[in-house]
Amino acid sequence: MEEVIKIRGSRRLNGTVRISGSKNSTVALIPAAVLGSEPVTIYGVPKISDVDALIELLRELGVEVTQPDEETLIIDPRNMEDRPLVSDAVTKLRASYYFMGALLGKYGKVLIRMPGGCNLGKRPIDLHLKGFELLGATVSYPEEHEDCTLLVAPEGGLKGTDIFLDIPSVGATINIMMAAVFAKGRTIIGNAAKEPEIIDIATMLNRMGANIYGMGTDRLVIEGGHPLKGCTHEIIPDRIEAATYLLIAAAMADDMEITNVIPAHLTGILSKLEEIGIKTDHTNDSIHIYGNDPHKVLKPTDIITKPYPGFATDVQQPFTALLTRSGGRSTVTEEIYAARFKHLPELEKMGANAHQEGATGIIVGPTPLHGAVVTATDLRCGAALVIAGLMADGETEIHEIKHIDRGYDNLDGKLRALGADIRREIV
Ligand code: EPU
Repeated sequence: MEEVIKIRGSRRLNGTVRISGSKNSTVALIPAAVLGSEPVTIYGVPKISDVDALIELLRELGVEVTQPDEETLIIDPRNMEDRPLVSDAVTKLRASYYFMGALLGKYGKVLIRMPGGCNLGKRPIDLHLKGFELLGATVSYPEEHEDCTLLVAPEGGLKGTDIFLDIPSVGATINIMMAAVFAKGRTIIGNAAKEPEIIDIATMLNRMGANIYGMGTDRLVIEGGHPLKGCTHEIIPDRIEAATYLLIAAAMADDMEITNVIPAHLTGILSKLEEIGIKTDHTNDSIHIYGNDPHKVLKPTDIITKPYPGFATDVQQPFTALLTRSGGRSTVTEEIYAARFKHLPELEKMGANAHQEGATGIIVGPTPLHGAVVTATDLRCGAALVIAGLMADGETEIHEIKHIDRGYDNLDGKLRALGADIRREIV
C-alpha cells in the first residue's frame, strides 16, 4: 500500500497562491533556535515532513516544542540536555547535520549519525568538518557507533579563526557560523555562500544576541563568545516554492498571482522565463503572470546552475518540465550536483525527448506530454513531475511522494484551489 498523487492534466489554472516560509531556512532555523538560554518563536513555518523530523530530534534532546497555530513554532531549550543524536530520525533529512555546529558550539561536543536527504549523487560534508577543525575541534568516528561522527571542542573551547571554503557551500557556511557564534574571538568565513537563507539564519542569530556581519556577501564575520537569549523571527518566503509556482503558472495558467514572495530572490529564474517568452510583472511582494497562452510554443534556452544569485540548482528539474514546450534544443547544465538528472527518464515516460550527456540535460521540443505512472526520485524531481502531470493529457500517477512532502507545503491543496484536478490515493 502506498500513497500516490494522481493528476488529470490539461486543466487551465487561475487565481492566487500564497507561498510558505522557506524550507531551507526553516531546517537551519530550528537547530539554531536551541542555541540560546530562552525560548525562540518562529513564524511562517511550512507544513513539511522535514520540519516534523527536526521536531522529533528536538524532543530527543529534551527541548520543549509547542505549535500555537499551524505556522508558528515555539522552541524552548531551557530543559535541553546534552545527548547523542543517533536515532533513525537523523537519517530522514539532510539538515540534521546543522545539529553538528549547533551542539558543538553549545556543549563543546556532539555525537551524531550521518544525515540523509535527497540522493543527488555525492554530497560530502568535508567543508563543514574542515571548518570545525579550524575552530579547534577534533573529528573522529568511534567504532562503537556505526555511521556516527564525534566532534569535540578543545579544552578552553572553540577559537575564532579564518576559514576559506573551497566551494561556497550553503550547509558548511551555516554550520560553521552556528559553531563560530560560540568561538572566542573573530571568525571570518571566506568564499561564504550568499543565499538569502544564510541572511535569514544570521538575522535570527543576531536577534538572539550574536554578532554576525557581512551576510549576503562572500565574507562572513562572526564575533563569537556572546551569550544568546530568545527572540521572535519570521521566516523568509520560499524562493524555490515560488519558482515552482511560477513554472506551474507558465505551464498552465492564463492569469496567476503568486503572493508572499521576494521577487529580488528570483531574478535568475524570472530572466530565464522572460527569455523563453513568459511575461511577468511584480510588486514588492507578489509576482503576476498574465495574458499567458499554455498552448504557445516557447523559445528554447540554455541554463547553467550556479550558487546564488545564479540560476538555482533546485529549480532546474521543474524548469525542465516546462522546456518540453520549447521549440528546438534546450540544455540544462548542472554545476552544483552533476547527477541531478533522475527526472529525465521519468519525463521521457510521459513523452518528453530528454536525455543526459555528462552534467548536461538536453531537451528537444516541443513534445506533447501524456499521463503515465512515474516516480519522484527526489524532491525537485517530484515538482518536475507534478508540472508535467498538469501539462499532460490523461492521468499521471506519481509514486514516492514522500519526497514531495518533505519540501512542499500542501502542494496538492494549493493546486486544487487554483483549479487543478489533483488528488492523493492509496494504491
Ligand atoms: N560540497 C562539498 N563539500 C561539502 C559541502 C558541499 O563538496 O562539505 C559540495 C556539494 O557536493 C555540492 C556543492 O558543494 O556540489 C554545494 O553544496 P551545498 O553545501 O551548498 O548544498 P547543501 O547545503 O547540502 C543546500 C540545500 C539544497 C540545495 C543546495 C544548493 C538545504 C537543506 N539544502 O544543500 O536544497 O540544492 O544547498 O543550493 O539547505 C532542495 O531544496 O531540493 C535541496 C537539495
